[in-house]
Amino acid sequence: MSQRTSGLRRVLSSAAVYQGLQDLLGGRRFQHRLVAEFVRPPAGARLLDIGCGTAALLEHVPASVAYHGFDLSERYVAAARRRWGARGQFWQASVADAPRLTGGRFERATAIGVLHHLDDAEAVGLARLAAAALTDHGALVTYDPAVTAATSRAARFLIDRDRGQNVRTPAGYAALVGQAFDDVEVIEVARHLRIPYTGCVLIARQPRRDHTPSQPA
Ligand SMILES: C[S@@+](CC[C@H](N)C(=O)[O-])C[C@H]1O[C@@H](n2cnc3c(N)ncnc32)[C@H](O)[C@@H]1O
Repeated sequence: MSQRTSGLRRVLSSAAVYQGLQDLLGGRRFQHRLVAEFVRPPAGARLLDIGCGTAALLEHVPASVAYHGFDLSERYVAAARRRWGARGQFWQASVADAPRLTGGRFERATAIGVLHHLDDAEAVGLARLAAAALTDHGALVTYDPAVTAATSRAARFLIDRDRGQNVRTPAGYAALVGQAFDDVEVIEVARHLRIPYTGCVLIARQPRRDHTPSQPA
């Protein structure tokens, strides 16, 4: 995992501080948009949130949707359990050691702000994990900071200070996720936060079955 955790960034491993900063920057409003505009889980769907953090996304997920989230950080997962209790299922795991979720059990998977924390091999691993977990008509939705033609110097300054060390171009993210999905839609976003920032949403459909892990969950 490529994540900077020294100095001021260490403070962000506190769930309360991280969540407070997200709210301040407009991340909460953008998460609402992500769910309403891009994830769009059907009623009664099962949603797998990879790198769920404190499960802030769940605030925007309709009540009929069954939410399952996992994250590397024990502190974030503990905060998710405290906040949401039985509304979701939460467990601590890394993308690399997460149980193989075979069988197409989820209609949606999300990885919000996660790919830029992962090196290329780990990012492909995430995409394969999602592809194996999704139904044939399911979709993986990701969002990450990205360097695009719209990235100003101020945005670049802020992006360079992210805890994730693998910020890519939209094409860079798509090439990795495309190793596990036949159809990857790329949507560049700007002015979506209260600070200068650019990012990219991927909607990956048509999960490939050639990499489905053989070990059942
Ligand atoms: C920017 S935060 C986003 C959290 C959450 N998705 C959200 O939108 O609030 C990135 C998250 O990815 C998690 N993460 C980083 N590397 C991971 C890995 N290898 N496996 C699982 N989670 C990971 C971090 O612990 C962190 O919670």
